[in-house]
Amino acid sequence: MDRLIVLVCCVVTYLGVLGTSGGLSREQRQISDPVQECDNSPYLEPRQRALCQKETRLINVVGAGASMGIEECKHQFQGRRWNCTTFNNTDVFGNVINIQSRETAYIYAISSAGVMYSVTRACAQGSLEGCGCDDSVRSESTEGQFEWGGCSENLKYGSKFASDFVDNKDKEMDSFALMNLWNNKAGRLVTRKEVDLVCKCHGVSGSCSVKICWRKMRPFRSVGSVLKEKFDGASLMKVHRRKNKLRPVSKNMKRPSKQDLVYLENSPDFCEPNPKKGSLGTRGRQCDKDSYGLDGCNLMCCGRGYYTVVKEFTEDCDCKFFWCCRVVCNKCTFTKELNYCN
Ligand SMILES: *[C@@H]1O[C@H](CO)[C@@H](O)[C@H](O)[C@H]1NC(C)=O
Ligand SMILES: *[C@@H]1O[C@H](CO)[C@@H](O)[C@H](O)[C@H]1NC(C)=O
Repeated sequence: MDRLIVLVCCVVTYLGVLGTSGGLSREQRQISDPVQECDNSPYLEPRQRALCQKETRLINVVGAGASMGIEECKHQFQGRRWNCTTFNNTDVFGNVINIQSRETAYIYAISSAGVMYSVTRACAQGSLEGCGCDDSVRSESTEGQFEWGGCSENLKYGSKFASDFVDNKDKEMDSFALMNLWNNKAGRLVTRKEVDLVCKCHGVSGSCSVKICWRKMRPFRSVGSVLKEKFDGASLMKVHRRKNKLRPVSKNMKRPSKQDLVYLENSPDFCEPNPKKGSLGTRGRQCDKDSYGLDGCNLMCCGRGYYTVVKEFTEDCDCKFFWCCRVVCNKCTFTKELNYCN
């Protein structure tokens, strides 16, 4: 198993985010000794352990970033045959990450992006030692349209940190390692681009004679969505043996940019269960009978058909507002047809 996933497993175990027992409570986390905590994390590499010991809160921040990545993956893929299912603490993604496929590419990219995002945000919020706002922007030209101020998030620092923590460059670069490093980096490069200029006006009664601006990362959802597009457009690569570099399988194919995702092996179709390939199959999955898309019953159920269950729901309705201040509603019951794959 490759190291990033070990890392993700480790920090997820650490935080107990998968809802299984064994996670530390907030109090336990706060009072425990960081050095000991770092030593107690069995999956950390020596390099990661050293980074961990330097800073008390770091492992929490890294862990939060990794689980944010996992949650985003689940959100982005909820209507697909492969829906980024997670299993348990020791084996978060199951066997799917043993296949050098685009699913694996996405998992690496979003995890790496999550760690970078989380660290960058924590730096700007002042919750980590040794990092803060990006003051280097102040020397960038603004063409007189505004002034730099506030706290610009330091994406360069976050990216460098995530790279040091996540990328494993020590081992021999086989093709899978090359692919994983590429996708880790793509995740971070995409995050670096998902940034907005946020401004505040100062001056007499909103005249905006002075405009102060800073850089702020967009919500993590944007990173997840851009990477999802990259998933759909991912490039099939092979290794150029002599240079030990990845290149497109055929000369006619467009060379991917550094922000694109790459993979080495085609995915299974995820229609039938195949534990070796990390496929759970789609039996019993909910589908949309009116959609022609991937979430539609036709594609989701791989042509096996679907069954319909009528379920009853109750919700508030006919709400009236009484002055002042009360809202009175009726309860309405309605039925809904839900469809599931055979
Ligand atoms: C975790 O999941 C893997 C497969 O995904 C399975 O082989 C293993 O038994 C599971 N472990 C536990 C403790 O449930
Ligand atoms: C994801 O797929 C698995 C297996 O096909 C299923 O058990 C699970 O409910 C799905 N999750 C969501 C959110 O649809």
